[in-house]
Amino acid sequence: MSERGSLPSFVNSADLDGEREPVRRYGLVVGGTETPVLLGAHAWDSLAELIPAHWSRIVLVTQSAIPGTFALSFEATWVLIPAGEEAKKASVAEGLAQSLAELGLDRRSGLIAVGGGVVTDLVGFVASTYMRGIEYLNVATTLLGMVDAAVGGKTAVNLAGGKNLYGTFWQPTALLCDLAFLATLPSREWRSGAGELAKYSFLTSDPIAGLGLAQQIYAAQRLKESYVAGDEREAGRRSILNYGHTLGHAIEGVMLARGLHADISHGEAVAIGLVFAAMVAQRLGRIDEERVLLHRRVVEGYGLELSLPAGLRTEELVDFMRRDKKNYGGFSFVLDGPHGLELVHDIDESLIRSTLEEYLRMDVKRGKD
Ligand code: GLY
Repeated sequence: MSERGSLPSFVNSADLDGEREPVRRYGLVVGGTETPVLLGAHAWDSLAELIPAHWSRIVLVTQSAIPGTFALSFEATWVLIPAGEEAKKASVAEGLAQSLAELGLDRRSGLIAVGGGVVTDLVGFVASTYMRGIEYLNVATTLLGMVDAAVGGKTAVNLAGGKNLYGTFWQPTALLCDLAFLATLPSREWRSGAGELAKYSFLTSDPIAGLGLAQQIYAAQRLKESYVAGDEREAGRRSILNYGHTLGHAIEGVMLARGLHADISHGEAVAIGLVFAAMVAQRLGRIDEERVLLHRRVVEGYGLELSLPAGLRTEELVDFMRRDKKNYGGFSFVLDGPHGLELVHDIDESLIRSTLEEYLRMDVKRGKD
């Protein structure tokens, strides 16, 4: 498990204890209907507000590693799933569905996922398939969950062939983000959420960095809403949310294959992918040097590393990127440009390879500074 550290520089402890502002109540329209959201410190105390009156039975699902005590003002049953990313697999989903059947859940029952992306992705997947679909709501306990994983209705488990290959689109009926839960977040998990916040900084001309934490989470959710609305199944515009993810996923994939996935989080890999994508965009004449430097400043401003994990080689990363779902013909990347972010196709493999070599050379030079 990652170490717990002090709060990152972009977070103030007042953000987490509710002194700054009361719980926000609003709605996100991501799948045609409005999803009510509670965001703020101690939002958990208002969870009952989000539970639909027609839910006949309620099961809360969490991982044993998730800290904290969760007092409830309504009747429900807790089901624990195993800790870690390893829990995100079909056999655990099947086991959970089996438990629901044994508990006698019917179509009017609801699930509450309490956790990070592993829990919300898995519970959403089970909700979408149990009895051909029941309702669920997400209680995100990590920054990454609050700004990305728990929003937008992508559900999945992993297969041996890759992450998130077995899943559905199934929107939660509500979302709760209690900032007090973040007080115990491990450092690596903070960095994971920060990488996604850095990404959102390039999806808007209104700066996100520098805002209070609740405001940054709110802004990220609104941005995600604007990209998912009208493209729930990622036929077009939603793919822009994958900015920085092509190299990011390759780094995660290679690390996973080496059994080293605990050494880098999703957001840390995305942050490196953002700077790399900016370098590709510059080589294609889409942006200038100053814009590339801005990418670095934003990533570093969130306290994120630009260096690739030690020992990663160009060839294995290029091989991984070659298999990216967005590709046809040459390589496809979400790239910055004069009209903002766009999905660009048919990029030469040689350009990707030489940009990566340049990145790795800069990395070595930085290491010697
Ligand atoms: N995480 C990107 C998306 O939900 O589309």
